[in-house]
Parts: sequence; C-alpha cells; structure tokens
Amino acid sequence: MDRVEPVPRFAPLSPTPPAAPLSFWAYLRAIRTNAVTIWTERAYQEDAERRDLLGRATLLVNTPEAIHRVLVDNPGNYRRTPASIRILRPVVGNGLLLSEGEAWRHQRRTIAPALAPRMLPLLAQHVVATTADHLDRLAAGPAAPVDLLAAVQMLALDIAGRSMVSLDMATFGPPMRAMIAEFAADLSRPHLLDMVLPPGVPTWRDLRRARFRARWMRLIEQIVDTRLARPECPAGASRDLFDLLRAARDPETGAAFDRIALRDQVATMILAGHETTAVTLFWALVMLAATPAEQARVAAEARAIGTDATAVPRLVRTRAVVQETLRLFPPAFVLVRQAIGPDRLGEQDVAAGSIVMIAPWVLHRHARFWRDPAVFDPDRFMPDAPPPPRYAWLPFGTGPRVCVGAQFALTEATLALAMLLARFEVARLDTEPVLPAAVVTLTPSRAPAFRLSPR
Ligand code: HEM
Repeated sequence: MDRVEPVPRFAPLSPTPPAAPLSFWAYLRAIRTNAVTIWTERAYQEDAERRDLLGRATLLVNTPEAIHRVLVDNPGNYRRTPASIRILRPVVGNGLLLSEGEAWRHQRRTIAPALAPRMLPLLAQHVVATTADHLDRLAAGPAAPVDLLAAVQMLALDIAGRSMVSLDMATFGPPMRAMIAEFAADLSRPHLLDMVLPPGVPTWRDLRRARFRARWMRLIEQIVDTRLARPECPAGASRDLFDLLRAARDPETGAAFDRIALRDQVATMILAGHETTAVTLFWALVMLAATPAEQARVAAEARAIGTDATAVPRLVRTRAVVQETLRLFPPAFVLVRQAIGPDRLGEQDVAAGSIVMIAPWVLHRHARFWRDPAVFDPDRFMPDAPPPPRYAWLPFGTGPRVCVGAQFALTEATLALAMLLARFEVARLDTEPVLPAAVVTLTPSRAPAFRLSPR
C-alpha cells in the first residue's frame, strides 16, 4: 500500500464567541452582521443557551433529544419565524422552502422524485458536463489572480439551471448573481422590527423588499417563459424537475401548478440549490489551499479514480473533505423555528411564541461531540472512522423538512471539487485569513485571490 504522508494539522480562524451574553443592542447588531457571534463560548459546551429578547424566550438547543423533538417528533409545533418569512419570501415566493401544511406536502411529493437517489446518475452527468465547461474557461484565463468565489458561484448556478430547468445560465446567470449580491448586502439582514412584528404587518424594509421581489420575480419569469416555450415532454417521460412540476396535479383538486407557482418553485430550487453548494465548494478550496498535503491527496485520488458521473462512491477522500468542510462551515448555520404551542425540550420549558434555534455551526464545534473541533480533519469522515454522534453533524437538517437536495449537493460538491483538483493546483495569493460571516448563509468575509496552476 502507498504510504500516506501525515497531513500537518490546520485550524482555520473563526470569529471568537463572546465570553458573556451580548447586550441587547450588540445582539441585534450581531444578527445583522455575523450571526454566529450571538452564542457565547458556553454554548459550545452546554446542552442549551437561553436568553430573553423583548419578553420572548430565545433558546438554542444542543442535545439529540431536544433536536429530535423539534425537527422529527413534533415539527408541526414549530414553524418558520416572521423574520425568516420576511427575508426569504421575496426571493423564493411560496415555493417548497416556505410552504406549510397540505401545500407543502403536495410540493414535496412532486419535487422529491426529481432529486431521489435513482436520479443521481443523471444529475451527476449535468455536474460533469457543466464543470468541464467552466474549467476550460478557467484554463483559458490568466493563472492569477482568480476570484474562485465568483467562479464557483457561477458554476453552481449553471449546474442548478441545467439540471433543474435544462437551461444554461449564460444569459440569466450574471443578472441573477448581481441581484443576489444586492439582496445579500442589505435586505437579507434582519432588523429589530423584522423580528418583533407579525409577518402580516409590513416594516419599511418590507416595502423595499416588495420592490426587490417584483424585479427578481420578473427575471425568474423570463426563465420560466423560456422553458415553457420548449415543446412538452411525451407523457411519462421527464427531462428535468421542471417537467415533473409541469406534470404534477394536486391530489385533491386535480389542478396543475400555474405559471406563478412554477416561478416560485424555480426560484426556490435554483436559489436553495446553488448558493449553499457554491459556498461549500469555496470553503473546501480555502481549506485545501491551506493544507497542500491534503490537497495533493485529493488530487491523486481524483486522477487515480477518474471523475466521470459514476465516480462519486469511490472518491472517498474528496467526499470526506466535503463533509469536513460542511462541518466547519455549514452554509445553513442555524435552523430557526417559532413554537406555536407550549412544549418541553429536555430540561427546558418552551412557551408558545418562543424562538428555538438548532445551530449546525454550534453542534459542529461542540466540545462534547468532537475532539479538537477547530481542526480541519477529513479523517473524521473516512469510511473506517466511527460515525459522528447522533445529530452532531447536521448540515442538511433532519426530519420531514430535511434538505430535499442533500444527496445531489454531496454528489455535486464531490465531483466538482475532484474535477477542479485533478486539473489545477490551487494556491492563495495572500495569507490574510478569510473569516466566515453568517447572514442568510455562511459566506466568506471577502473574496480572496487564488492562483490556479495546471497539474
Ligand atoms: C451544501 C448544500 C446544501 C446545504 C448545506 C443545504 C441545507 C439545507 C438545510 C439545512 C435545509 C433545512 C432547512 C430547515 O429545516 O429549516 C434545507 C432545505 C431545503 N433545501 Fe437544501 N441545502 C443544500 C443544497 C440544496 C440543493 C442542491 C437543493 C436543490 C436542488 C436544495 C433545496 C432545498 C429545499 C427546496 C429545501 C426546503 C425543503 C422543505 O422545506 O421541504 N438544497 N437545505
């Protein structure tokens, strides 16, 4: 057997948690600027962290029992919060992410088959073809400086467009990314009134969000119209998620999704399906640029095994790097719910109206669940390693509202990373740390410059 060189240990810098609970105003500022700093250092050691905000309890829970109760056993008692609805509705409309009750069940039953395990080989072909195109473009450009954050964002958007609606994103991609950046810089950040007013009462920021929503949805409608102009698939055959959505009928009324419902689903799937995977790829590249021995190991695996659409199960090291990246940098860093009625979570009483948080960011760095939690160590996810404790690794959530694209996301990130590293050696041009900044997803504080050298 080949000798594997030991990889020097590397712990990326991350924001320091406060030693004591933040003051009310500091807490509000943290939610707007970097929400992973709202939890104190004790949160990473204890079962729960509770604080009151304007008379309402806000509870972070870390135990498997409490997480199971909220997400699996009693999810009907925990709905999305007014702030999440205000912030996400303008960009995803009434699609799967924000729907509830019967509407949610119907949408989930329609969409899940398009992302089921048996669809992965087909989806993987889209990933391979799209990534190959994007890597050719990178190879044709200068070796440095390369903005890999922008590159993986466009790549993931193109993969989402091709696999969900069979359209390449050359036309729609750049305006979509520009609008996402505009939204991320301002309207996606929760302010006090976003959190305290019920969703039916608009804040002045909601009025600006409504204007943004009108522009954004016009762009998504162009995608839907372009796709609707294509001939319909023969009955029983589906090219992509869009065909499945178009063919779906409401089990009770027999009604099809109308153009607006199709638009909201397309917005949801493209947005939820690319931003998260893009940041995963980005953080994985930051980690591998900082650990050249680990990078060499992933590149050697990709070259030995190949990166065709069937390679994922054999790309075990690359997949372990992706899983370890999702541990240290979970794009969905917190799942937030509001209790409809009272409940009890372990030792904690939950009153109706309380906010309950399950934070992959905290769970993934919790002292009780992980040895050396701050260290980047893909060995934790190798097939011979013991599985992580229950609910200690939760990048895709769990229960009925678990991420519908989880398997696709893992396939996509593993293949795209392997293809990139098989072709290029990745290095940073500066040594300044890149810190995670949590707003809607866990994005980097800045886009550092990289060098890509052909292997
Ligand atoms: C690394 C990539 C991804 C991460 C970390 C991620 C994470 C998550 C998480 C944590 C949830 C649950 C949210 C909650 O319970 O509040 C979720 C839901 C969802 N995700 Fe993902 N996701 C990823 C990729 C994708 C992809 C590729 C797609 C689509 C192709 C997708 C579509 C969705 C949708 C539609 C939901 C809502 C499901 C529902 O409410 O029934 N995600 N995702």
